[in-house]
Amino acid sequence: MFMYKEVHSTFTHLFSMVKRLPPLKKGGFCIYCRSKKNTMEFLLIEKAIKPHVALLTINRPKDMNALNLQLMGEIRDALKMLDEDDEVRAIVITGNEKAFAAGADIKQMSDKSAIDMYLIDQFSTWDQIKKTRKPIIAAVSGFALGGGCELAMTCDMVVASETARFGQPEIKIGVMPGAGGTQRLTRAIGKAKTMELVLTGRFLSAEEALDYHLINKVVPVELYLEEALALAEEISTMSPIGTRLAKEAVNRAFETHLEEGLHFERKNFYLAFASEDQTEGMKAFIEKRKPEFKGK
Ligand code: CAA
Repeated sequence: MFMYKEVHSTFTHLFSMVKRLPPLKKGGFCIYCRSKKNTMEFLLIEKAIKPHVALLTINRPKDMNALNLQLMGEIRDALKMLDEDDEVRAIVITGNEKAFAAGADIKQMSDKSAIDMYLIDQFSTWDQIKKTRKPIIAAVSGFALGGGCELAMTCDMVVASETARFGQPEIKIGVMPGAGGTQRLTRAIGKAKTMELVLTGRFLSAEEALDYHLINKVVPVELYLEEALALAEEISTMSPIGTRLAKEAVNRAFETHLEEGLHFERKNFYLAFASEDQTEGMKAFIEKRKPEFKGK
């Protein structure tokens, strides 16, 4: 298992670490440039927690994993790096048992002006999550609120512990959702329920979130991470090319009308026939054996 706890945040450097370097020891320094500076301060990256599965763990426990600017930048950089790493086929993002993430960092935002917020444009880091081509699963326990709920919704699937709580409570602090809450929640659970949550700030229990189709499954707290990793591992045994094409097509359903979506799906289906994975997958079926997908 590779642990990249202490690396620099520039993309090039991270990429080099993953490609060429052996694991770093806790408390050590970066053997790539010999610096002790630890810019991945709030995010733990485990590249091969399972074969072809990477795990990102948000680590700001004292602040309920509130998403400050640095942490969001780290998530953005890590996802970009993992998306370009051929060894990785699926990604899990998690927090701790008490909090997946309790929203954007209120303390960091509280004294900002509208122009500060506009110039900082902190929610643009969410765009990278959406741009990630590999499947991302959120493993949620405890609070997933505000930006934390939006982060979970930007992922492709959500596995929750029975203690998970989802909500958009921004209204209680005098603002409103700003990282996709009004749009993604409406598409996931419909207008009436979204209005209720956004206008009252009420939290959904894990069971309610499951009933409303916001999440994939609810499991006992001691199993949520294991289940999310097992789901990621199952996906990582499929053709990486087919997985990407399918993810693109499903996401297109939210962004276009039916006819264009069907057209997009068909083109991606035909494109899959340009891959070695298609040849191997169909051949293996006929020969009654397990396919060996290479992502080519
Ligand atoms: N930002 C900054 N700090 C936060 C935080 C946040 N979003 N959420 C929790 N914390 C901090 C608390 O301030 C507290 O710090 P101190 O010990 O220094 O006082 C620590 O985490 C523990 O929190 P609580 O003592 O409040 O713990 P609790 O168990 O009583 O309550 C909670 C937990 C229900 C999550 C509560 O902390 C809470 O309501 N947090 C804010 C939730 C929220 O409003 N999120 C939306 C933020 S705005 C946003 O996300 C905009 C967007 O669309 C992206």
